[in-house]
Amino acid sequence: MGSDGKYNAAKLALELVKDGMVLGIGSGSTVEIFLNLLGKRLKKEEMEIYGVPTSYQSHFAAIRNGIKIVDLLEHSEPDLCIDGADQIDSKMNCIKGGGGAMTKEKIVACASKKVVIIVDESKLVEKLSMPVPVEVLPFAYGYVSKKLKELGAAEIRLRHGSGKVGAVITDNGNLIVDCDFGVIPDKNVERCEMEINSIPGIVENGIFPKKIIDDVLVGKS
Ligand code: A5P
Repeated sequence: MGSDGKYNAAKLALELVKDGMVLGIGSGSTVEIFLNLLGKRLKKEEMEIYGVPTSYQSHFAAIRNGIKIVDLLEHSEPDLCIDGADQIDSKMNCIKGGGGAMTKEKIVACASKKVVIIVDESKLVEKLSMPVPVEVLPFAYGYVSKKLKELGAAEIRLRHGSGKVGAVITDNGNLIVDCDFGVIPDKNVERCEMEINSIPGIVENGIFPKKIIDDVLVGKS
């Protein structure tokens, strides 16, 4: 069910892409489906698409699909950012970072003219409640953990991966901690995002307040 929904959301997003556009390219499995569909379209139609990827995953997938890789130095304002999400509340606030790519995802989303999130229905929630992924400079991990607890995190888990022993290291060389702040009501979302980021040593967190997001495309199975 999930992947049909992801496919349908990706297909809707494909209609927004026009020849010559610079895309902000998020990360995750839904974005990868979108890139594969875009790749098929690029083979059929004579068009050029440029992309600013937000992870090695989407970088490689973009290249495989014929998208020309550019960066924010050259194109500081991509035309359209397409990205997935892990949870979206009824006001369009999101939590991202299940794939650990939220830092570059947030930079590219904020830089882009328009941000469209593509998800299947399983990502929709009334209120945000999953642990918030936080990217942390390794040097600051001990201090940051203490401060996140003071901020109200009930549990802080250092993310471990598979295919490697020990902690997950992000594409930027940092650690990820998943912080359980319980339910985050809409009115607290922006404040929570800012308070987490105000701790020295934190690079970015996975809360994407609604002000960053223009549209959400929900694919049904
Ligand atoms: C990557 O860090 C995340 O923000 C992804 O965008 C998010 O986890 C959605 O992933 P899927 O499309 O794989 O569900």
